[in-house]
Amino acid sequence: MAVEIKKVSKEELDTQRGFVSKVSSLMKSRYEDKPLACVVTYGCQQNVADSEHIKGMLEEMGYAFTDDRTKAKLVIFNTCAVREHAEDRVFGNVGALKKYKLQNPDVIIALCGCMMQQKHIADKIKKSFPFVDLVFGTHVVHKLPELLYKALTGKRRVFELPDMDGVIAEGVPVKRDNDRKAWIPIMYGCNNFCSYCIVPYVRGRERSREVEDVVAEFKCLVKEGYKEITLLGQNVNSYGKDLNPRVSFSKLLRILNDLDGDFRIRFMTSHPKDCTKELIETMAECDKVATHLHLPFQSGNDRVLKAMNRSYTREKYLSLINYAKELMGDELSITSDIIVGFPGETYEEFLDTVSLAKEIKATSLFTFIYSPRPGTPAAEMDDPVPYEEKSRWMRQLLKVQEEISAEQMALHKGKTFKCFVYAKGKQGDNYLAARTDGNLIIEFEGDEGLIGSFQKIKVTEPLTYVMLGELERNDI
Ligand code: SAH
Ligand code: SF4
Ligand code: F3S
Repeated sequence: MAVEIKKVSKEELDTQRGFVSKVSSLMKSRYEDKPLACVVTYGCQQNVADSEHIKGMLEEMGYAFTDDRTKAKLVIFNTCAVREHAEDRVFGNVGALKKYKLQNPDVIIALCGCMMQQKHIADKIKKSFPFVDLVFGTHVVHKLPELLYKALTGKRRVFELPDMDGVIAEGVPVKRDNDRKAWIPIMYGCNNFCSYCIVPYVRGRERSREVEDVVAEFKCLVKEGYKEITLLGQNVNSYGKDLNPRVSFSKLLRILNDLDGDFRIRFMTSHPKDCTKELIETMAECDKVATHLHLPFQSGNDRVLKAMNRSYTREKYLSLINYAKELMGDELSITSDIIVGFPGETYEEFLDTVSLAKEIKATSLFTFIYSPRPGTPAAEMDDPVPYEEKSRWMRQLLKVQEEISAEQMALHKGKTFKCFVYAKGKQGDNYLAARTDGNLIIEFEGDEGLIGSFQKIKVTEPLTYVMLGELERNDI
């Protein structure tokens, strides 16, 4: 059933603009120079994109930025709840700010993001971290000006954690981290409730941005010279199901591909249950859509997949990969996410994951040891395998993948790729790093001025995770 999209109203956005002016005046009256803000981001690209909006709003409020949290008048941690380790890091880093706050009472410490959307975490912050001034959830990022004003002027700590399904705020300012590579969230939330995952609880239900809004932002980026634009969503394959009229993700890709300009479109993440042949055909046919498919399979065993509530089988997953290979051949690069040691997983079942990894030959894998998330069904399941055993399984999988990655890289020796040069390289002083359509990294010697452009680069020496190459032609 189509859900009505709740766009943040124009009046609400105007109200926030009013608070931008108020904070801005307050800052001018309190500080001679622009006060510094330090925004620390954990987690996935969705959080990175949210932080870019946070920085956009802060810039309008008169802040400049620093990476040094002990120089900042405002420290914001944008947190991730996906695994326990991510949460522990945040608690450690927030705890370390206690002394700084005590010595500098005018500093504001703020926490936001997915972790805060869990009640037990917000309660812990309330009780055990009294020096945290402001806590806000994932559904009210656009209200930062108002919340910050309250934190700066009121006597009480501010907690704004509405438990709602989320809204879409268009027109919030953005300060992007990179001037050639950009993220565009096309949808928010997740409806899938994989049994291990906290994301649907902290990000609310799926809601898609209107096609016109996505296209307008995309056009703006192309005009500003952005070359690599990644469309974001927890499950981009279900984009548009809630729009009226419905629009498929493939259709959106085709609309963007047809826009004028020299750019490359990437997207993540795809869910195998909603990934269609049509999407794979679209990737193959659209020249500006990268031939990189990030398609997490999580497990290669059907019983485990069912217990994970993933709604596809190993066979269905393989048929998608095989179809993609059939259409895109060597140009296709596959990456995937895997969970090792899901509750009740046996060693034999884990070996099915290893065999699937061997079968699909991904260029790289993102592998995680299962981490129980309070409130999810999997956290209630029996989990008899000790962590050390799961770590051994993980090492076994990594070893297998290392060989596959090296093998995949070796196939590219002598080939020439159109690459986006995105940064300075790590292999030596004059090296630059570039990304192929399939998301492989080639380092080559070249002038720094090439950063931000597309170039043709020939692979001379494939290593395990990176390839060495040389500039072939300068005229694309
Ligand atoms: N929406 C994306 C993934 C978002 S989370 C998708 O469905 O593919 C990114 C990855 O973190 C997941 O793919 C999964 O491999 C991992 N992950 C999520 N919850 C986890 C947990 N409780 N323990 C370990 N890994 C987890
Ligand atoms: Fe989590 Fe599954 Fe949604 Fe991905 S699809 S965010 S793994 S619930
Ligand atoms: Fe983490 Fe939230 Fe992303 S839980 S992985 S930051 S959606």
